[in-house]
Amino acid sequence: MTRVLVLNGPNLGRLGRRQPEIYGATTYDELAELCEGWGAELGLEVEVRQTNHEGDLLDWLNDAADEQTPVVLNAAAWTHYSYALYDACAQLVAPLVEVHISDPGQRPEVFRHTSVVTPHAATVIAGQGIDGYRQALEFLAAG
Ligand code: DQA
Repeated sequence: MTRVLVLNGPNLGRLGRRQPEIYGATTYDELAELCEGWGAELGLEVEVRQTNHEGDLLDWLNDAADEQTPVVLNAAAWTHYSYALYDACAQLVAPLVEVHISDPGQRPEVFRHTSVVTPHAATVIAGQGIDGYRQALEFLAAG
């Protein structure tokens, strides 16, 4: 079974409570459960993680590079300015799918219009809500 990491960056642990008008009512725990279920349906072994600490995410991406594990990544605010994240994503061997619940490109804050992840992503799924994660897993399962 193909193993897939679904990695989430800062503040996404507060899904369901954090700006629900933008990010929806689904909690992080519900998201993790949904991703595992979607993965099982697609024949993927999905592991979902979230951190508010950038070094954790970098370590997970370094491990994914060594283990050639496909990654679904919502790096949240780090997406927009972390060159360490850019470098960590650059070394990935297996496909990387960038996901955002909202569509940062359509939001008023100009800082959201830049992504350090996109240059390394096989595809970007944004503005699809939580379903974007399902679409990302589907993309990886399709190979
Ligand atoms: C986000 C969009 C980012 O701009 C923001 O900083 C987030 C969440 C999204 O999923 O829509 O924290 O990545």
